[in-house]
Amino acid sequence: MKIGCPKEIKPQEFRVGMTPNAAQEAIARGHEVIIETGAGQGSGFDNTDYIAAGATIVDTAAEVFATADMIVKVKEPQAAERKMLREGQLLFTYLHLAPDPDQTHDLLASGCTAIAYETVTDSSGGLPLLAPMSEVAGRLAPQVGSWTLQKANGGRGVLMGGVPGVGPAKVVVIGGGVVGTHAAQIAAGMGADVTVLDRSLPRLRYLDDVFGNRFKNQYSTAGATAELIQTADMVIGAVLIPGAAAPKLVTREQLSTIKPGAVLVDVAIDQGGCFETSKATTHAEPIYEVDGIMHYCVANMPGAVARTSTIALGNATMPFMLALADKGWKQACQDDPHLLAGLNVHAGQLTYYAVGKALGIDVVSPNVVIKS
Ligand SMILES: NC(=O)c1ccc[n+]([C@@H]2O[C@H](COP(=O)([O-])OP(=O)(O)OC[C@H]3O[C@@H](n4cnc5c(N)ncnc54)[C@H](O)[C@@H]3O)[C@@H](O)[C@H]2O)c1
Repeated sequence: MKIGCPKEIKPQEFRVGMTPNAAQEAIARGHEVIIETGAGQGSGFDNTDYIAAGATIVDTAAEVFATADMIVKVKEPQAAERKMLREGQLLFTYLHLAPDPDQTHDLLASGCTAIAYETVTDSSGGLPLLAPMSEVAGRLAPQVGSWTLQKANGGRGVLMGGVPGVGPAKVVVIGGGVVGTHAAQIAAGMGADVTVLDRSLPRLRYLDDVFGNRFKNQYSTAGATAELIQTADMVIGAVLIPGAAAPKLVTREQLSTIKPGAVLVDVAIDQGGCFETSKATTHAEPIYEVDGIMHYCVANMPGAVARTSTIALGNATMPFMLALADKGWKQACQDDPHLLAGLNVHAGQLTYYAVGKALGIDVVSPNVVIKS
C-alpha cells in the first residue's frame, strides 16, 4: 500500500501523523511511504530521518494526496485538504465529526473511507488512540500549573515541593481518570500534597490499590470540592462525562473562597471546561486572571510537547496503521471490531451513530458496510 503523510496545516499543530520509526516498520512490510517535506519538523524529525527509514519525500501535500492509498494524519483534514481526498482513498486520523457538519459533508462528498482515531476502542472499554493524549495533558498539567504558581506569572509564589521547614503546595485533582491519574502522579512526584476527587468508587479503589498513600483520594461531592478548594494552591480539572459537556464544578462565586493567586488548570476545557470562569486559551497566551485566581485553559495541551505527543500517538496508532496497510481496511475491520468502531465514513455513507444523531444524517451500520 502507498501510505502518505502530509504536513499538518491546522494553526499551532506541530505533531505529525507518522514517525520515522513507524515509516520504517511499514516499509519493512513491503509498503511505500510518502512524506511531505518538512512534515516532521515541528516534532524534531528531519526529512533525512524519513529518508533513512526508506520513505520518499515530496514537495507538496497535493503530491501526497494524489499518490497515497491511505493518508495518515493527526488533526481532522482542513477544507483545503478535504478537496484533495478522493473516492476509495483511506483516511486515518482524528476527525471529531459530531460538532463539525462542514467536514462531515465534505468527507461524505469525497467518497473516501475515514477511520477516526477517537472512536477506535479496546477490550477494556477504553479509547486507546485518545488515551496517549490524555496521558500527555495529565502529566503536563502540574508542570504548567507550577509555572503559573510563580509570582511573576500572577501566582501565589508557592513551590510545589516546598523546602525543609516549609510545607508543599496543596493540589486538588477533580476527576481521577487518565488525565487525573497522570496529573496526580506528577504533582505527587514534585512533592506536592495531592488529593484526587472522583465520582466512581471502582476508580477510587483502583487509585488506592495502585498508588497507596502517594496521594489521597476522596469521593467527589459539591461539599467536598468546596472544602478542598479553600486550602488549595492548585486545582486541576480533569472530569469527563462521555458525550456531554463538562459539568461546572467550581462556580465564579466560589473563587472568593480560594486563596488569591491560586491556579486553576482546566484540562477539561475541550469539553467546555469544569470551572464556570474557564474560557479556552492558546499556547501563545495560556493564562488569565479572574477575581485574583489564575486560570490555565489551553484546549490542545499536547501541542506544547509536540515531540513527546507525536511519538506517544505514533506508538498507539502504528499497530492499526500496519493492519490497515497489510490487509486493506475492509479485512482489517472484519478481523478487529475495535478498529471497526473507528469507521465513521465510507463511500458517501455515514457509519457512526453518534455523529448521525448529532448532525441529523442517516447512518448505515458499519457491519453492513464491511460485508458489502
Ligand atoms: N486540554 C487538552 O489538551 C486535553 C487533552 C486530553 C484530554 N483532555 C480532556 O480531559 C478530560 C478528561 O479526560 P480523561 O481521558 O481523563 O477522561 P476519563 O474518562 O479517563 O476520566 C474522567 C473521570 O472523571 C470522573 N468524573 C466524572 N464526573 C465527575 C465529577 N463530578 N467529579 C469528579 N470526577 C468525575 C469519571 O469518573 C472519570 O474517572 C476530557 O474532557 C478530555 O477531553 C483535554
